[in-house]
Amino acid sequence: MGSSPPDTRANARREAIARLREAGIESAVLDADLLLAYVLGIRKEDVYAHPEPVLSADERAGYEGLIARRARGEPVAYLRGWKEFYGLEFAVDPRVLIPRPETELLVDETVRRLAPLDSPLICDLGTGSGAIAIALAVALPRARLIATDSSTAALEVARANASRHEVRERIDFRAGDLLAPIHETLDAVVANLPYLTSAEVDAGGGTSIEFEPRAALDAGADGLAVIRLAIAQLLARPAPTDIALFECGPAQARSAAAELGAAPGVRTDIVADLAGRPRVVVAMRVAARR
Ligand SMILES: C[S@@+](CC[C@H](N)C(=O)[O-])C[C@H]1O[C@@H](n2cnc3c(N)ncnc32)[C@H](O)[C@@H]1O
Repeated sequence: MGSSPPDTRANARREAIARLREAGIESAVLDADLLLAYVLGIRKEDVYAHPEPVLSADERAGYEGLIARRARGEPVAYLRGWKEFYGLEFAVDPRVLIPRPETELLVDETVRRLAPLDSPLICDLGTGSGAIAIALAVALPRARLIATDSSTAALEVARANASRHEVRERIDFRAGDLLAPIHETLDAVVANLPYLTSAEVDAGGGTSIEFEPRAALDAGADGLAVIRLAIAQLLARPAPTDIALFECGPAQARSAAAELGAAPGVRTDIVADLAGRPRVVVAMRVAARR
């Protein structure tokens, strides 16, 4: 951003958009507006409604710093420190994956199928920021949850988010490998586990995944390594689980459904997103392999 006076919101915004466009950021206008609103502590709409005020030296320096980081590819969610998911605000930082809008389909399906139950015990595997577990706890006020993650750093973020949304007492956060820390009989298992191939993660430069924890993304050569492990653990449990829902990449959904469906008595279903891509694998009456 140059030093051309006057330093109004409108001018700062224009210079920031030009800088982000130069850096190849596709969402340059939106990001410049979101970050200006963040620095000024105002709503995005007020950036356009009141373009005349002059930025203070601190505001200008803060904005320039954020625009420089955004130009290097850092996601807006990490720069602002929060992301909206399922109508709730979640604190996020590089310890956790930024919750994705497509994961709302998994939450919707789970809420729809579990709403008739009185007080289900639900497990969220690989909880990250806690987005799924917390959204479920808010949407299903009588549900109890156990949320696991192999990253203790991620669990710190998740616990803080649960406290912020006043559902901390209904979610038991446990560190460990998928279902390993759980000995209770569960009504439901939900999971958005890593499902990118290692090659996709390696090629992820220029997107937010470059800044997100690799352990939240990388699922080996075929993108199924972690989901496959979760399915194996689920099928090895002594008591059946009524329903399991896994978010998958469109390329993995059919294979995951086939692995679950191969167990005796398990019925599977695949839910597609609005674009018709298979995204959520649902399995009913998931019982131990005989
Ligand atoms: C794709 S992120 C999803 C985070 C969150 N569920 C969401 O939807 O925003 C996957 C999460 O699974 C965790 N994870 C990966 N492998 C795991 C394992 N073997 N056991 C437990 N958690 C694991 C990662 O640390 C990460 O937090």
